[in-house]
Amino acid sequence: MIFSKSWEERNVLRDERYRITVKLKVNGEEKMVDIRTADTLLYVLREKLGLTGAKPGCLNGDCGACTVGINQRPMKSCLMLAAEAEEKEIMTIEGLKSSPMQKAFIEHFAFQCGYCTSGFIMNAHLLSKRHPSGSDDIIKEWLASNICRCTGYKEIEDAVKSVLHFSERE
Ligand code: FES
Ligand code: FES
Repeated sequence: MIFSKSWEERNVLRDERYRITVKLKVNGEEKMVDIRTADTLLYVLREKLGLTGAKPGCLNGDCGACTVGINQRPMKSCLMLAAEAEEKEIMTIEGLKSSPMQKAFIEHFAFQCGYCTSGFIMNAHLLSKRHPSGSDDIIKEWLASNICRCTGYKEIEDAVKSVLHFSERE
């Protein structure tokens, strides 16, 4: 009978009831992770898997600092439950080491403090895969989902264009 249990015992029960184990495929590696059903993907990536490249900013879908790839599409990981990411291909900035887009951001000085940068690079990398010859309008539309509080956006746009224009010549 539930009322025969102490408050502490009931909380343990409640906690366990909402715990599940999920298989997440992150940057090509499968991992079994013990989560609470209400945990966001951003929380699990950072706190359970130690992948801190995706950043917590607004936590309500506005800034894009938490952007990751889900099945090759950009997703704000603060808005997605970790449980929803099971059976999907998750890509984080840690899986994009030395990518053309990362190099372009460095070459064009497209960051200052860097807090927004992993989200921008992830979004722009996925843009380059989806629209390798994307127009200026498409670039603007995609980049509108990320906010930078330090740089002018010109350096970021120049970095993205340099990769897309390179793809055009291939
Ligand atoms: S932290 Fe996810 S959109 Fe800002
Ligand atoms: S470089 Fe600082 S917020 Fe974008």
